[in-house]
Amino acid sequence: MSDAVRRQSGPFHVGDKVQLTGPKGRLNTISLEAGAIFHTHRGGIEHDVIIGQPDASVVTGTTGDDYLALRPLLTDFVMSMPRGAAIIYPKDAAQILAFADIFPGATVVEAGVGSGALSLWLLRAIGPDGQLHSFERREEFARVARGNVTSFLGAEPSNWTVTIGDLVEALPGVAPAGSVDRVVLDMLAPWECIEDVASVLTPGGLLICYIATVTQLSRVAEAIRRTGLFTDPDSSETMVRGWHVEGLAVRPDHRMIAHTGFLLTARRLAPGAILPQLKRRASKTDFSDEDVEAWTPGSLGERSASDKRLRKAARAAETAADRAIAAEANADAAAEADAEADAEANTAANAEAGAGGDTPAT
Ligand SMILES: C[S@@+](CC[C@H](N)C(=O)[O-])C[C@H]1O[C@@H](n2cnc3c(N)ncnc32)[C@H](O)[C@@H]1O
Repeated sequence: MSDAVRRQSGPFHVGDKVQLTGPKGRLNTISLEAGAIFHTHRGGIEHDVIIGQPDASVVTGTTGDDYLALRPLLTDFVMSMPRGAAIIYPKDAAQILAFADIFPGATVVEAGVGSGALSLWLLRAIGPDGQLHSFERREEFARVARGNVTSFLGAEPSNWTVTIGDLVEALPGVAPAGSVDRVVLDMLAPWECIEDVASVLTPGGLLICYIATVTQLSRVAEAIRRTGLFTDPDSSETMVRGWHVEGLAVRPDHRMIAHTGFLLTARRLAPGAILPQLKRRASKTDFSDEDVEAWTPGSLGERSASDKRLRKAARAAETAADRAIAAEANADAAAEADAEADAEANTAANAEAGAGGDTPAT
């Protein structure tokens, strides 16, 4: 069971993250601390003015400016958190949760963990009774992911493991054969992991791959087919186009995030099951990995972040996580002090009532 829970609704408390929108529409996210002041170039905002207010309140800064105070959504957080590797955007994360049928209590394997954006969505969907095993071969990326997850949730969830290493090598030591409900692969070469993933998936379990290019899509689909261990893969791409809706000016936005990646899903067959041939395979689908490389040379290259940038992102994520943990501890101490004060006040009131001969209510 996971114990990492940050309040997602209700009035603002010490330790909560708050997204402030200022008079010019500029966004700032702060963590609430009793007695602290958030300084802007237009004056300051006392945290105490926000603490205790309902979510989505308008608060006034020291120079009279109004700020909208909102608890950030997970979408807001992942789009602004420190990044090591490129993240899965919310539009694709939403589809992954739906297409992969991520359910409360599921045991899920994820590789690579990257910046931890998808890990956050997965942890939320599996709930406290689920289990997420994330794998990442680069330690600095895992540091960024751990910092981001801890920063958002207020603590590192106990139902989340992060294993540093190559998925193929590390997976058997973490997940026994047939024990996993869902596998999510967001990595350069998912086709290298298909057999290993098949052995940990339960019959009927689902593999979903997030893939950046068409050559990778084709390569992973053929690798899955070749194993004979899965249903025929389904592939799709999701484009979300925002709309400007104001009075009679109703039209699509001029800009959009167009291509991010493709999604491919396939279900694990039961041991010994042979897939009925629903489709005739054309011989032109037979090609080797060398053919793919020759077709689009270099297309499979991974863009790597510089060590300096990565160390900076890891430090930023870890600092935010430390602050989140400290803020939770302060909030707990404040709650304890309040409870003690209440108890003392009750004892005094009871003593007074006793002295006056009243019978205490039961
Ligand atoms: C694009 S990032 C993942 C981003 C992540 N899904 C997110 O939303 O933040 C891909 C990650 O896969 C890792 N990776 C690639 N191949 C791997 C393998 N065989 N085993 C473990 N991790 C791998 C890379 O180091 C990289 O961090």
